[in-house]
Amino acid sequence: MSAEAVPMSRTKVTIHPLWVRITHWINALAMVLMIGSGWQIYDASPLPLFQFEFPTSITLGGDLPTGLAWHFAAMWLLAANGIVYVGLGLASGRFRAKLFPIRGREILADVAAALRGRLAHDDLAVYNAVQKLLYLGVILAGVVIVLSGLSIWKPIQLQWLTALFGGYDAARYVHFFAMSAIVLFLAVHVVVALLVPKSLRAMIIGR
Ligand code: HEM
Repeated sequence: MSAEAVPMSRTKVTIHPLWVRITHWINALAMVLMIGSGWQIYDASPLPLFQFEFPTSITLGGDLPTGLAWHFAAMWLLAANGIVYVGLGLASGRFRAKLFPIRGREILADVAAALRGRLAHDDLAVYNAVQKLLYLGVILAGVVIVLSGLSIWKPIQLQWLTALFGGYDAARYVHFFAMSAIVLFLAVHVVVALLVPKSLRAMIIGR
């Protein structure tokens, strides 16, 4: 039977290709490891950025050496996977097709619809304006967190990068705020995924 002869409700349209699903879930794992171990490193810092600590129960690694070991191990996973996702996202045209254009008017309309509980999720293949903005934002935050992390890991070898962030101390704040943005995104993102289970299903099996 040709694809045209199959009723729309029965066609099996791939919403997220395999490479998106694999890189998405590897990224989720790597992010959780990076965030948990990052909080451990933050708590152990002799020069804390802020006057609060993360509860030990939500940090990864019981002490500084173990936290650092986790952070540096998961870093390779996050960076390598991120390069594959961003590389394929750009090369395949997926980013252009799915995340652009983002129009201010549409964002306002979608936020208003979401607040009234009326934001449609009928077509999972098309992101609404708020999704586009948030996905693009978190991808950029991912790039910033990796680059600022590199600049505070190797401030001598990568002086130019550290300077780009305004110096070592500023790069630490940038790294922290990028983490905060990603954690905020993640909190909203997971709640929405659970509220719209078919979107979660599509990110697991593709359809
Ligand atoms: C347990 C954690 C996570 C769950 C349950 C989850 C779930 C999902 C689901 C269901 C979608 C598809 C959304 C849709 O079709 O409307 C999605 C897409 C996406 N998620 Fe997540 N996610 C998680 C973690 C993360 C993390 C940590 C990040 C980044 C920091 C992230 C970034 C993205 C991006 C950028 C997309 C769009 C992908 C694309 O279309 O190329 N997710 N996620």
